[in-house]
Amino acid sequence: MSITSKPFGQTPDGKQVDIFTLTNKNGLVAQITNFGGIVTSLSVPDRDGKMADVVLGFDDLDGYVNEHPYFGALIGRIGNRVAKGKFTLEGKEYTLAINNGPNHLHGGLKGYDKVVWKAQPIETADGPSLRLMYVSPDGEEGYPGTLTCGVTYTLTNDNTLKIEYDAVTDKATPINLTQHSYFNLAGHNSGDILSHEAMINADNFTPTDETLIPTGEIWAVEGTPMDFRTFAEIGARIDSSYEQIKFGGGYDHNWVLNNKDGKLALAASFYEKTSGRLMEVLTTEPGVQFYVGNFLDGSNVGKGGAVYNYRNGFCAEAQHFPDSPNQPGFPTTILQPGQTYKQTTAYRFSIK
Ligand code: BGC
Repeated sequence: MSITSKPFGQTPDGKQVDIFTLTNKNGLVAQITNFGGIVTSLSVPDRDGKMADVVLGFDDLDGYVNEHPYFGALIGRIGNRVAKGKFTLEGKEYTLAINNGPNHLHGGLKGYDKVVWKAQPIETADGPSLRLMYVSPDGEEGYPGTLTCGVTYTLTNDNTLKIEYDAVTDKATPINLTQHSYFNLAGHNSGDILSHEAMINADNFTPTDETLIPTGEIWAVEGTPMDFRTFAEIGARIDSSYEQIKFGGGYDHNWVLNNKDGKLALAASFYEKTSGRLMEVLTTEPGVQFYVGNFLDGSNVGKGGAVYNYRNGFCAEAQHFPDSPNQPGFPTTILQPGQTYKQTTAYRFSIK
């Protein structure tokens, strides 16, 4: 087991960026750059022990500096959408960038996916670890308060990529951090993910309007194509006439996880039968955004020249619900001075 680093290039404003290679005792390998805290590759075995890189991404820093759909990145200060880029907190209205139709998405024009994090490699008994730190100034992208964020990635010896987040603030602020890796368990360059099977441990989801802002209602998955309480092929019901799927252009919704006690629990599982790879997602968070790459259109040329087409990867972003600052009925995302934000999400790999 080891963690090594090498230079990954320079940002347009001249900051040096590194890439870290974490190898666990079973030979799984994760590569992570401190630009955006991006997981650039993740190699895990299939049922014959053959390794494949199961996350979409680029070979070099330029790919990540340029516009791309958040491949592998840390997302903040607020993951997903804020309606019309506005919210009111403690009587004051805040305005955020509108960067997705009429709404704010993934922290704005320069979110945590585009900043350089301070990095510290650590060898732990559980496996190699990378501690990332970022201080988001008061007013950055319109958000109130200086937010000091830490994210620790560990590639554990039981074949899990564990992500532990923490943050403190000096003014009340909304916060909803997440990780935006796109997975294809057959390998990042293996075409669409429609034949993967998914299970989501959720009886309910939050329906949206046509701009993907939650209506505030909580709907049962029962009797709808959103029902993944037992394993189902991702593609089996995706092109139905169900209005919610039409709005998302496919699955692009927040599932309300059954686990509500804030302890780490199984949120979702994904299985790819030709390779035998199984990925389980565990989280302390109340929701998971299951997004199936509906906006991938072949315009991103990634690692080894791979062209990422429509639905060639899926994301399982563990987080609080979208638009929470405007939704009094949803679990709060407000962090107060003196409190510590914490969330843990783990992607656990095995074969079946
Ligand atoms: C959102 C999608 C968006 C994607 C990449 C996901 O978290 O739910 O609507 O297109 O991120 O930008």
